[in-house]
Amino acid sequence: MEKEQLNVILNQYIKSSSLIKHSKMVAIAMEYYARIYTLPENEVSDWYAAGLLHDLDWEMYPEEHPNYSVENILPKLGVSLDVINAIKAHAPQRTNYFPNSKIETHLFACDEISGFINAVTLVRPNGIKDLESKSVIKRLKEKSFAANVNRDDIYKGVELIGITLEDHIKNLISAFSKSDLFNI
Ligand SMILES: [Fe+2]
Ligand SMILES: [Fe+2]
Repeated sequence: MEKEQLNVILNQYIKSSSLIKHSKMVAIAMEYYARIYTLPENEVSDWYAAGLLHDLDWEMYPEEHPNYSVENILPKLGVSLDVINAIKAHAPQRTNYFPNSKIETHLFACDEISGFINAVTLVRPNGIKDLESKSVIKRLKEKSFAANVNRDDIYKGVELIGITLEDHIKNLISAFSKSDLFNI
């Protein structure tokens, strides 16, 4: 599915600009990794779609998220089973489906940390510009900062994709800096 079409779907289900930004950040992070692994174009599209659509039902069905979407929305959109399973696996405590394949582990690893990096940019005068991995890590240790972000999931995520937290954050900062999501 084309990015344009995916965006139409995103806007149909999500009205909150911050959730739209979050969805786009995770999509950009996923595409970045898919390209690092030089995956074929159809898989790059799947990784991007998984990122963009992972919280599709969060606003309308917060209690059932992401099960509502997995059962009732995604199958009708024509996205691949890999995308559906990745979305299922980003919330294992709600779906009882745990991240295993590469697209699944990467979605799990990109979700919470993207939200956290965004929170860090919001309290900096320069936003994402000149943001360093080590200042994000420092903030992670501050329990009261962006307290709703689950630190355990962040640590588990990098373990699943097999890179250091520092490198993961570096990768994402570099991906986000090239996007148009941050005014720099
Ligand atoms: Fe979610
Ligand atoms: Fe999310």
